[in-house]
Parts: sequence; structure tokens; C-alpha cells
Amino acid sequence: MSRESDESSRAASPRKQAHLNLFAYGCGHHKAAWRAPGSAVERLGEIEYYEELARTAERGLLDAVFFADGQSLDPPSLADSPGWFLEPLTALSAMARATERIGLVSTVSSTFYPPYHAARLLGSLDHISRGRVGWNVVTSMSDAEARNHGMPGMPPHERRYGRAAEFIDAVQALWSSWPRTSLEADRGGRYVDPERIRGVAHAGEHFSVAGPLNVPEPPQGRPVLFQAGASEQGRDLAARYAEGVYAVAYDLEQGVRYRQDVRRRVREAGRDPDDVVVMPGLVAYVASTETEARRRQAELDALLPAEASLRQLGRFTGRDCSDWELDAPVPELAPLEEFTGPQGRYATILRIIASERPTVRQLLGRLAAGGGHCTMVGTPESIADRIEQWLDGGAADGFNLMPPTLPGGIEDFVEQVVPELQRRGRFRREYRGTTLREHLTGSPRGAA
Ligand SMILES: Cc1cc2nc3c(=O)[nH]c(=O)nc-3n(C[C@H](O)[C@H](O)[C@H](O)COP(=O)(O)O)c2cc1C
Repeated sequence: MSRESDESSRAASPRKQAHLNLFAYGCGHHKAAWRAPGSAVERLGEIEYYEELARTAERGLLDAVFFADGQSLDPPSLADSPGWFLEPLTALSAMARATERIGLVSTVSSTFYPPYHAARLLGSLDHISRGRVGWNVVTSMSDAEARNHGMPGMPPHERRYGRAAEFIDAVQALWSSWPRTSLEADRGGRYVDPERIRGVAHAGEHFSVAGPLNVPEPPQGRPVLFQAGASEQGRDLAARYAEGVYAVAYDLEQGVRYRQDVRRRVREAGRDPDDVVVMPGLVAYVASTETEARRRQAELDALLPAEASLRQLGRFTGRDCSDWELDAPVPELAPLEEFTGPQGRYATILRIIASERPTVRQLLGRLAAGGGHCTMVGTPESIADRIEQWLDGGAADGFNLMPPTLPGGIEDFVEQVVPELQRRGRFRREYRGTTLREHLTGSPRGAA
């Protein structure tokens, strides 16, 4: 093919555009970010801080800003890192009023909330934000959380996922129980057509809910569902219900494998895989030169408390690392088959060592910022190159941005990488719609 016809065929087929989501977390996703000069560590209880993050993300035309959530506190871990945040739905209602277009995604646990309460909170926030809400449904993870909710420990995995599916069905039924079309607000004397409001009469294995919901149908019909499960059951739940999936992929190959698997499950669930946006986490260190980007990463890594980090690495690897030389290469570790502790994290550590040949300090830094998530260090151009490779290689439909520092990391991304992606036709130049679902899928309302 001549260069000219190659160019024209490229122009004819539009390039796949990225979806971008900001995962807002404290002073950033690097565990030592709070110690960096200029961090927002004193502002973690100030709503203005989160409003500013949301405005920055909106300036960058991102799809959404997202909060994870947990339901317990671990005082010893607070000694060297501020691991707390404002309750997400409460914070997002303020952020909704500080922004106009960006989506607002809250984690809500199906293990700890009753469905009526969840439907009402999320439905109200969809009204407050005029249709910008997403719900990251999780089944939660730790016994410490369960003990705050009248349980001795976490219910078994299978039971949690059984409850999650029933929970979503009940919440979605509640959202449609009071249809907007029933609202007449006729000053002649009729407010609604009560005939059009239905109960949900849900009676399942895990709960019963009579309905109807006492908030009318949300602007999006159904707020957008996100899911981030890794297990078979987690992926199947995503395949049945999710429109967005938060994934963990260390490299392009792992991203392709995960995305293909989710798309296959979506197809098997009778849905179109193109209706589901898969977004792996991305930890990006951006600067105008490679050297500067690496220097910033090294500066953050140098702020990690060495002794505590080595102790933690010892727990992850099942050996004593306390005398490891920080600036020497990582000593050889036993292969995965011989390791008897938790496999996931150990596999990640082996993968980082094999592909990046880090020093001990660099390994600690990688684990302290995103761990098994994809990490890109470089210029806006080199990061945009790699994002294009992931999009075109079938590893991602976009990314869940996990900036190592906040607010600086998202400002850098918005000011430097977003314009580069736009120049390449890989990211929107304006919001087309007003709802989160429009940003994500192009259509305004979910099926009722
Ligand atoms: C980006 C991302 C965000 C997550 N956020 C939360 C969260 O806020 N709360 C939570 O309990 N779990 C969260 N998880 C964990 C998952 O929902 C899930 O429990 C975990 O991946 C284990 O998978 P499994 O439950 O399918 O075994 C998150 C996972 C990812 C990748």
C-alpha cells in the first residue's frame, strides 16, 4: 500500500478513543506522596480539596472521578500513611455542585448496605448531579469491615457474590418503581398518577424489599454500574451488569488476557461486549523529559520509610528482607510454585523483578504506588504512545488514572497527556452529552 492510501485509509477509520477516569485517593496513590513538599496532607478533611480535584479532572474532560471505599480503620497503618477519606457519597454530592459535566462514581458495598438505602442514596445523587452518577458495586474484603456491621467476619466469597447479584436486581427494580412519567405536577390538583407507581415485591434469598422507592426514577434511569472483581464470580457479575470495569493489568499482555476474558463473558451473558468499557489502573509519572519523570519517581521512592517498607516486603515474600541493601538489585526469590503464602502479590513482585530489574528501593516504590497496576514513566509523547498501544492492542478501552501524587499528578496528566491524546484523535475535545452514560457509551439512559 502506498503511503498516501495508507494515510487515507487511516483517516477513514476513526481511531479508538480513550475513556479516562480519575481514581481520587488522598494525597495520591504513592504511599509516601503525603510527605512530598506541596502535598495536600493537611486538607484531607476539606471538601474544597476534592472539589478542586474534580474541577481539574473536568477541565481535562475526563469521563468520571471515582472513590473507592472501605468500612474500617487500621490504626497501626496510619502511623506512616494517611489512609482515610470522607465518605464517598457525601463527598460526591458536594463535588456534584462544584462541577457540571464530569461523572461521579461511588463505591457502595453490597455486603454492608441494605438495597433500599443504597438505591435511595445513589438515586438522590443522580438527581443532585443531573445524571452523572456511577456505582462501583463491591462485595468488600476484610473481616475488620465485617466486624463493624454485626458480623464476626466476612461471609464466604460465593455467598457475597450471590447477595451482590440479588442486591443489584433489587436496587435496579427500586430505581424504576416510581417512573418519571408518572409525575404530572399539575396545579389543578394532581401531582402524580399513582397507578403508574409500582412496588417491587422483591423476596429473595438475602432480603425482601416491598418498594416503591421514595425518590422518583433517577435522570439516567439506572445510574451506571461499575465493577472491579478479579475472581470468576466477580467477572461474571461484571458480565451480567457492568457498563464499566476497573481492571488490574501489569502489562499489555495481561491487559489483553483480562479484557478478552471479560468480553467473552459479556457475550455469553447475552450482551454486546462493545457496551462494556474496560479500564485498567494507570500510575503515570509525567514530565517534559524522561530523566525528569524518573527523577520525580525516585524522589517519591526516597520518601518511603525504609525499615517499615522492608518489613512489609518480608511479609509479602515470606523471608527476612531487613538487611537488604536499598540501592542494590533485588536478591533472587523462590519461584512462584515454591511460595506458600498469598500468591497474587508474590506473582506481581516476581513479574516486576523479571521485567524491570529494579533495585530494592525501586521495587518498594513500585509496590507503594499501584503495585500490580500498569506504570508509565516518561514524557507526554511516550505515555501517549503506550496508551495508543494498549487501546489498539485490545488491552484497554481507557484507563483508571491513579496519579502517584495529588493534586500535582492529575494536573500534569490533564495539562500534558490529555492535549497529546487529543492531537492524536484519541480523546474528546469537548463533552458531547451531560450524563455519565453519555460520556461512557454515547447513550443517555440505561435500559429500565
Ligand atoms: C480499581 C479497583 C478499585 C477497587 N475498589 C474497591 C473498593 O472500593 N472497595 C472494595 O471493597 N474493593 C474494591 N476493589 C476490589 C474488588 O472489588 C474485588 O473485591 C477484588 O478485586 C477481589 O476480587 P474478587 O472479589 O472477585 O475476588 C477494587 C478493585 C480495583 C481493581
